[in-house]
Amino acid sequence: MPKKIAAGNWKMNGLRAALGEARAIAEGAPSGIVTLLCPPATLLAAMPEGLATGGQCCHTNETGAHTGDVSAEMLADAGATYCITGHSERRADHGERDADVLAQTEAAWRAGLTAILCIGETLEQREAGRTLDVLSAQLAGSLPEGATAENTVVAYEPVWAIGTGKVASPEQVAEVHDALRAQVGPDMSLLYGGSVKAANAADIFELGNVDGALVGGASLRAADFLPIAEALAAR
Ligand code: PGA
Repeated sequence: MPKKIAAGNWKMNGLRAALGEARAIAEGAPSGIVTLLCPPATLLAAMPEGLATGGQCCHTNETGAHTGDVSAEMLADAGATYCITGHSERRADHGERDADVLAQTEAAWRAGLTAILCIGETLEQREAGRTLDVLSAQLAGSLPEGATAENTVVAYEPVWAIGTGKVASPEQVAEVHDALRAQVGPDMSLLYGGSVKAANAADIFELGNVDGALVGGASLRAADFLPIAEALAAR
């Protein structure tokens, strides 16, 4: 059975003053699912007990002359057990390509982290009817050999739905997740991401091959994120 995961991606948000929200999320996290926050690296070591934590990306080397970068080993040393790889904002802002994402995923594994590998189509690709082909090619190019349900989670995040308030319809999510399930096997967790909120979470979690969500904006406050985690736990 895939693990159920409510994952928050704080992106480049969160000063130490935000640790109170993280504590409230830890205290209110429902049992029976993994509640996970991926804060900026600066906050990882200060995150409260009772929550799983993850990095948002990692360098492919363990150490070295790479100013400004953070290695998977450093994330693990700061308490992380997960690391997002291939987020579309990294692909867009830093030119990360499938081969880079594959190398980062392997680096995350080497450090003992579970990778949350993100894939997603653009609006243009969806409108051209290429969604499933694009996703299948991204997965083939970025999921390393040796992926298991223990070391990898796949997150489907349509680029047009991230931070836009436009959530994919349950039919669109179901079509993609059913195709992904056929590609990754029965046990790997499949998350949906893109404008998930308390108001739409339950409809998404009802779908058979959705095992949780990767949540950006609505993960910053406990009052927004806990109802999403609860909706997942209640499924
Ligand atoms: P959003 O971000 O929930 O703010 O749309 C999701 C993500 O990028 O992981």
